[in-house]
Amino acid sequence: MRTWLINAWYVAGFSDELEGSGFVSRKFLNLPVLMFRRSSGDLVALEDKCPHRLLPLSFGRRVEDEIECGYHGMRFGSSGKCTLAPGQDQIPSAACVKTYPLVERHKLLWIWLGDSDKADEQLIPDIHWNDHPDWTPSRGYHYVKTDFRLSVDNLMDLGHESWVHLKTIGQKDEECIPSYPVSVSIENGYQIRAHREMPNIDAPPFFAMVLDYEGKINRWQTAISSAPSICMTDFGVYPVGESPGGAYRSHVCHLLTPETENTTHYFWSVARNKRLNEDRLTRDICKGISDTFDEDAVVLEMQQRMVNLYGKDVPYVAMKVDEAPIRARRMLAELVAKEMTDPTFIHKPQLIIEDTTPLLSMSQ
Ligand code: FES
Ligand SMILES: [Fe+2]
Repeated sequence: MRTWLINAWYVAGFSDELEGSGFVSRKFLNLPVLMFRRSSGDLVALEDKCPHRLLPLSFGRRVEDEIECGYHGMRFGSSGKCTLAPGQDQIPSAACVKTYPLVERHKLLWIWLGDSDKADEQLIPDIHWNDHPDWTPSRGYHYVKTDFRLSVDNLMDLGHESWVHLKTIGQKDEECIPSYPVSVSIENGYQIRAHREMPNIDAPPFFAMVLDYEGKINRWQTAISSAPSICMTDFGVYPVGESPGGAYRSHVCHLLTPETENTTHYFWSVARNKRLNEDRLTRDICKGISDTFDEDAVVLEMQQRMVNLYGKDVPYVAMKVDEAPIRARRMLAELVAKEMTDPTFIHKPQLIIEDTTPLLSMSQ
């Protein structure tokens, strides 16, 4: 059984990775892809496979707006057609490589690996915080050696901070965070939401840093899973006694693109609404978020090794914290089953989060 949707937009990288005269090669959904920006500015994504002897085209070189294979020198243009076959006048009619729709939106590259006639750009999730004057983005990339669904499980699970993230976003008191209830809901048909409020807690290291404040804080966190593979963590923190409307707030986008069944490209962007022009803070946030995800990666990769050892069908004991991850998995499985059985089915992803402060019930 396939674990991912094929007819969907996936993040392929950051727009500025395609500046200059080179190319980037990556594998997505088991498909090797080579991407570059033409001198006209248009984006190109080619299957990274020479049709002659299957050498990855990325082993070759870029010659102006074409790619030259590094084995026998065949050249391919942005349409995928071969334009040159050294040593012969006739170009074999079958000498072409597949192309994929590739577009940029909000400083991200989005690729469509399914039926190209279904590649509607309106289906690209709205991540406008990454490119908006009211927000300052930070960003990064992790290569994670796990099934992307384990990362989704992890991101929708609001119960592991006190053990995995003590040096970053976690609370030292093990009973503290898990004792605050998580409410889970399905919104807009295809969006799972888990929300928790933590009033009057000690500020974990990362939040003390972004607030530049060491005292007691109020904190909320909302985890959203938008199938097929994007999650978002919205969090807000503010000193006890102050108004939630003035909270330091971040939208953390986890842009997971499966590379293979057991490896994931994890692009992330973190947009904040305060201290917008402080470059030093941007760097510190990058480090803090990166350290946080490194802590998760250690756990996830150990978990993947155990899945490999015991098999995917090994039963899990469920805890309360699993409600949102289980719902997210179920939703994805239903969508994949629909795509596999109904050739007309197209998933319309939702990623909706209000920029206004959520209605909070916690006391100040
Ligand atoms: S393998 Fe590419 S030209 Fe021969
Ligand atoms: Fe985590």
